[in-house]
Amino acid sequence: MIKIRVLGSAAGGGFPQWNCNCDNCTGVRTGGLDAISRTQSSIAVSTNGEDWLLINASPDIRKQILDFPGLQPNRARRDTGIRAVLLIDSQIDHTTGLLMLRENDKPLDIYCSRMVYQDLTSGFPVLRMLDHYCGVNWHEVTVGGESFGVEGIEGAEFSAFALSSKAPPYSPHRNDPHPGDNIGLRIKDKVGGGSVFYAPGLASIEPHLTPAMNASDLLLVDGTCWTDDEMERREVGTRRSLAMGHLPQSGPGGMIEALKPFERQHKVLIHINNTNPMLVENSPERAELTRAGIEVSRDGMELEV
Ligand code: MLT
Ligand code: MN
Ligand code: ZN
Repeated sequence: MIKIRVLGSAAGGGFPQWNCNCDNCTGVRTGGLDAISRTQSSIAVSTNGEDWLLINASPDIRKQILDFPGLQPNRARRDTGIRAVLLIDSQIDHTTGLLMLRENDKPLDIYCSRMVYQDLTSGFPVLRMLDHYCGVNWHEVTVGGESFGVEGIEGAEFSAFALSSKAPPYSPHRNDPHPGDNIGLRIKDKVGGGSVFYAPGLASIEPHLTPAMNASDLLLVDGTCWTDDEMERREVGTRRSLAMGHLPQSGPGGMIEALKPFERQHKVLIHINNTNPMLVENSPERAELTRAGIEVSRDGMELEV
């Protein structure tokens, strides 16, 4: 059995975002909307319920650990349930939490692609910085779907797939995309056979992803924006969802439509931007998702495959 704990279900900025007065952020702050707050994008995965792989390290990690005692056992004076960290990209919402793990009593085992490693040792040199604290053991993740294991998470088989996306603004190759800038991840239980496909940044369901998604029981995928021009609609910016590497849910070719062929899969959206109308529990957008058999993740949600 693979246990998945959603530590943070929001996209970068969280919900509400610190400086945002859009209808959603105002509504959740004042209690005027039927919506709950969410921390930034991260999940934890375990096969034995004791040793956890942190997938993405969000700036909200301190609160996320406090909210999930499983990550902070008391077997020694200094202790953690986090055995390793896997990064799906080098974006701020997925990597700045690494700085908060600097007190680790041994080098952090970090699994990521060569591209992400390069970004995190150049444009945002967080791994170099950690060398002055706990240190880092880098395990290279190859991105062609080859299976690999993670030390401490015995019983799970991992495979990573390159996604067409963009590296972050501080990446040395921001305007020159490479395979591995962003990955989708499949995690399979070697014993029971169940599996999850996880991709919080998914601009499209590319043909090379379909077999892995078809073979998975749970699809935990990009829920960033409802429409491509959502930021503009909310008058909070001009960045477009697709340009940021996130397929919007609604409309022709959107995520709801793209997920339709996956009939037997449990479908859950994650990495939700604070502008997304589906965050409102009693919204028509949420009702549309429910009719399509798609759930919206929340912090603390537990899933099993
Ligand atoms: C993304 O998912 O596109 C980024 O995390 C955006 C951001 O910088 O917050
Ligand atoms: Mn993000
Ligand atoms: Zn907002």
